[in-house]
Amino acid sequence: MACHASSLPPERPPEPAEQIAATLADQGWCVSDRVLAPLHISQLRHEARQRWQAGRFRRAGVGCGEDLQVRDEVRTDRIAWLDPNDLSAAQRLYWHQLEQLRLAVNRSLFLGLYALEAHLAVYPPGTYYRKHLDQFRGIGERTLSCILYLNDAWQAQDGGALRLYTDPNDPEQSEPILPEGGRLVTFFSARFLHEVEPATRERFSLTGWFKRRG
Ligand code: OGA
Ligand code: MN
Repeated sequence: MACHASSLPPERPPEPAEQIAATLADQGWCVSDRVLAPLHISQLRHEARQRWQAGRFRRAGVGCGEDLQVRDEVRTDRIAWLDPNDLSAAQRLYWHQLEQLRLAVNRSLFLGLYALEAHLAVYPPGTYYRKHLDQFRGIGERTLSCILYLNDAWQAQDGGALRLYTDPNDPEQSEPILPEGGRLVTFFSARFLHEVEPATRERFSLTGWFKRRG
């Protein structure tokens, strides 16, 4: 007997953590779509927007600790750090998914990734983050960058691509990756230069880094 659910279009199952880990092992970076259900993404977006509208983001800095500086020539986005002990239900679910990824990457690459640090980011129209690496000089702990986009129906003409320089031996070689909701970009923090191009609309993301025991 045909049941109602079978007439719905088939949904691609979420990309398993193992598959992301295998792609990372192969090329060092991976773009995965629909890693979370659309409802989950809109909940994360809603919470991020509320926090932004409540004035609870601040200018992102460059560097770390006492060297932290706001530098307009480098980046003009705003961020809000997540407290792992004070996550919303939607954030906790995502945290749990990243935990599966951490375990899969550790299993296949023996990396010893442990803690995750993560922040929400908003790029108001016209803001950017110039070409950079995600490792701070002298610390070298950030190992795997994980960026989840929270935007609805992003179009190429909206700008705001993440440009990932995929070949360290060819500075011209790059991939423009649109920040479409549910898309997860992962890459090894020390290996890939990347930049965020200015957009014509507000651009939300949840960005995290797995650290490695030094
Ligand atoms: C970063 C970063 C990329 C993006 O926060 O370090 O590079 O697409 N973000 O938001
Ligand atoms: Mn970065």
